[in-house]
Amino acid sequence: MVTTEQSRGSWNSKLGFILAAAGSAVGLGNIWAFPSKVADNGGAAFIVVYLICCFIIGLPVMVAELSVGRYSRKNPVGALKSVSKHWIAPVTGAWGILCGVMILSFYLVVAGWTTGYIFEEIFYFAGFPEIASWFGALDNGLKNAIFSVLFMLTTISVITGGVSNGIEKATKFMMPVLIAILVIMIVYVLTLEGSGDGLRVYLQPDFSMINADLVLSAMGQAFFSLSLGMGALITYGSYISKKQNLVESATYVTLSDVGIAFLAGFLIIPAMYVAQASGVEIMDADGNLAASTTLVFNVLPEMFHNMGVGGVLAGVMFFLLLGMAALTSTISLLEVPVSYAIDEHNISRKKAAWGIGGAIMLLAVIVSFNINLIGVLDLIFSTVGLPLGGLMISLVVGYLWTSNEAIQEISSGFPGIKDSWIAPLWTIAIKVICPIIIGLVFITTLYSLFF
Ligand code: PFF
Repeated sequence: MVTTEQSRGSWNSKLGFILAAAGSAVGLGNIWAFPSKVADNGGAAFIVVYLICCFIIGLPVMVAELSVGRYSRKNPVGALKSVSKHWIAPVTGAWGILCGVMILSFYLVVAGWTTGYIFEEIFYFAGFPEIASWFGALDNGLKNAIFSVLFMLTTISVITGGVSNGIEKATKFMMPVLIAILVIMIVYVLTLEGSGDGLRVYLQPDFSMINADLVLSAMGQAFFSLSLGMGALITYGSYISKKQNLVESATYVTLSDVGIAFLAGFLIIPAMYVAQASGVEIMDADGNLAASTTLVFNVLPEMFHNMGVGGVLAGVMFFLLLGMAALTSTISLLEVPVSYAIDEHNISRKKAAWGIGGAIMLLAVIVSFNINLIGVLDLIFSTVGLPLGGLMISLVVGYLWTSNEAIQEISSGFPGIKDSWIAPLWTIAIKVICPIIIGLVFITTLYSLFF
């Protein structure tokens, strides 16, 4: 039997959980997607809307996910089923798992781009520009397939190690290294010519850019970046000790995720303008940033190439940073369906990781040869799919399980919650604010699509 608490696994320490959850949250979403969305959407105006989404919707949903997970000690389907008999509960969990699987299928390809670029940098500086451009070509299907498969194999090997020996150990090592590399690179880029222009674009808000599209994009980004809406934190919550304060831990995770995205902006946006100062084209004919999603991959290497010997070191370090951030996220994306197979179908962790990981690897190979699918999958399963999942989780937790039962669970590890202002505030957030705001954003977006 593999369903007892001991054999499911658990975090060794409070910090272990916080680092693993922050590792899940901090990923390509922070370093690749966030800065390009900011630069594309009116600079700091996007950041303001994004912060509101993270703290007013994201944080309460995170507490909800963690509490269901810890209460039930199960995967998203089993967890939601154990708090409500209504059909919507398992459907919510299943939707989350589907989103996770589909997100992982394109996330692996982007993660593969980052590792491919480590070789691109090395070969470029070694004097083999043709080989370098083979490793750097984003539409090179064969190369994409090889790197996404390698990335998945690494992810599977961590997952088969289990919760504390695999996930916790790997993220405990990678998170501090990631922050150190990020800070070193920011200090370096800010000394280069042109970075001041980037800082201005990053920090000067253009509030006239705020519209329904921007709000949907910020909300989707908040869910994606905080790993919410698909049950990743239900799963990670199921391994947390009853002694841990869930509200405090969720706050640390949210702050680290938002903090690292904000920091990444200080690196990426100035770096784009440094690239421009050295002659790289970063704007299209209309004065918008050219191809924002591939920006990090197209523009930054050119900047590294113009930097001489220091460039190879900076380039390798940067893509290593991106790769590590991506790995701690792919680990959590795979852990969700794996925990489902372990709990609901009594499959061993090893078999589940290889079986499900192998199937997702095949999907990633298909995406590798058709990179246009990335935008479509991202729109359906993250920008729309994750807030939709978050909406359903808020309704199941707030009304079917009831917020009182959830607060009872949260009070384990945080006995003071019942008499503090946090209990009524969280109740209003999960029952009223989250569903209404997410619903309104969906309705306005649909309306603006058709009228
Ligand atoms: N939060 C990750 C990122 O910002 O890159 C992506 C992600 C991981 C989304 C895990 C959802 C998830 F469950």
